[in-house]
Amino acid sequence: MSVIEWDKKLSVGIGVIDALHKNLIGQMNNIALSAELGARPNDLAVLLRMLRADMRDHCDFEEALMDPMGYSQYKLHRNEHLRADELLAEFHDNLLKEQRFSLSSYLTSVVHYFYSHIRCVDRSLGEFARDQFPRQEPSGRAA
Ligand SMILES: [Fe+2]
Ligand SMILES: [Fe+2]
Repeated sequence: MSVIEWDKKLSVGIGVIDALHKNLIGQMNNIALSAELGARPNDLAVLLRMLRADMRDHCDFEEALMDPMGYSQYKLHRNEHLRADELLAEFHDNLLKEQRFSLSSYLTSVVHYFYSHIRCVDRSLGEFARDQFPRQEPSGRAA
């Protein structure tokens, strides 16, 4: 089961960020599919731990990109990343404590938050970064 599909509406216009988002979406779908196929909560928790680590790396990457650009929404964006981290940690902890995968809570706290984050703040970052660094022609002139 796919709980989230990558499509053009999620593109931020920066290839490397889109590729990282696709990877995270693939992991989210894999976790939902594994749960649907009856994977044990402890095994799902291993997948979630990997998702948390990759999500943290991804957020660090975006934050490192924003910093040198003097991005005015840096603080807001970073707070959203911290919230995403908290939501993932809460879901992970509950899964281990209750030994039960709740699809509705997964959709609300993990998938929908990530989707909204990309559609809103990541896309704003993409627009800003594209303005800062316009595509270069092979000659070195801006396109
Ligand atoms: Fe972000
Ligand atoms: Fe992102």
